[in-house]
Amino acid sequence: MPATLPSPAFLYGTAWKEDRTASLTEQALGAGFRGIDTANQRQHYFEAGVGEGLAAAYRAGVVTRSDLFLQTKYTYQRGQDHRLPYDPAAPLAVQVTQSLASSLEHLGTDYVDSFVLHGPASSEGWSEADADVWEAMRKERDSGRTRLLGVSNVSLQHLEEMEAAHADMPAFVQNRCFARFGWDREVRAFCRERTIVYQGFSLLTANREELKHPLFVDLAEKLDATSAQVAFAFARAVGMLPLTGTSSAEHMKQDLGSLQITLPAGVTCAIESMAA
Ligand SMILES: NC(=O)c1ccc[n+]([C@@H]2O[C@H](COP(=O)([O-])OP(=O)(O)OC[C@H]3O[C@@H](n4cnc5c(N)ncnc54)[C@H](OP(=O)(O)O)[C@@H]3O)[C@@H](O)[C@H]2O)c1
Repeated sequence: MPATLPSPAFLYGTAWKEDRTASLTEQALGAGFRGIDTANQRQHYFEAGVGEGLAAAYRAGVVTRSDLFLQTKYTYQRGQDHRLPYDPAAPLAVQVTQSLASSLEHLGTDYVDSFVLHGPASSEGWSEADADVWEAMRKERDSGRTRLLGVSNVSLQHLEEMEAAHADMPAFVQNRCFARFGWDREVRAFCRERTIVYQGFSLLTANREELKHPLFVDLAEKLDATSAQVAFAFARAVGMLPLTGTSSAEHMKQDLGSLQITLPAGVTCAIESMAA
């Protein structure tokens, strides 16, 4: 991991865990994860449960707040159900402030490490709504309620238009990473050139068939690892910050264990271009 990377080596994702959110968050911290990804989007995340898990880990002396990298997101109303963390009638900038204030309460902290725009308003490009939200997010950063900012579910076009419109670029891009699209090659290249950290999710679930490819299976056998571990080791080798949302204690261990795997020279290029 480059010394300048302002985040841990792996992020534990808390989506889709409902009543198990608190216990799995606590378990992940016990297993060694120090980065936690969540969102103030009740439809897919139970952020207050993440806060309960953090509190339990603090009480047990497993970690302190300063050991952790906490990341949450602002989600537009169209990505939410009726359980909104803001007044939908309020201007977007106010929604951003209300959403983050609610996240801080859920997480029992007065700052997060990263605040992410969950997805742009339109798939067509960076819109005026996105610019308003980004400006409000920048104010939250300048007020110290988040250390860093990020964007998620973005295309190269979004990023290029964002760059044309703003002096400040995100510290993070968080995207679903499909092997069949060169593992999001163009967006990763854009990020690399600007030292934006690329966070990859669905590395396993978006690439089930590719993980059965001999490149993964043979390498896993040779390294006495699993294909999932090879996928995470590959992600790290090309500069990604991977996410896992495993609910299994064994997989938590394996996913963190992948950080110790060094891939043989040449393999990274072969995997990177396997579907090109
Ligand atoms: N920004 C966004 O829009 C967005 C969207 C989706 C997700 N995310 C974030 O990314 C996180 C991760 O989501 P994800 O889409 O990558 O999927 P995921 O929820 O992490 O699912 C991973 C799947 O892989 C399995 N798995 C994990 N480690 C494994 C291992 N070592 N061996 C075999 N199987 C393993 C898990 O099963 P077990 O539970 O049995 O291990 C699970 O079925 C989410 O929790 C969320 O925080 C963000």
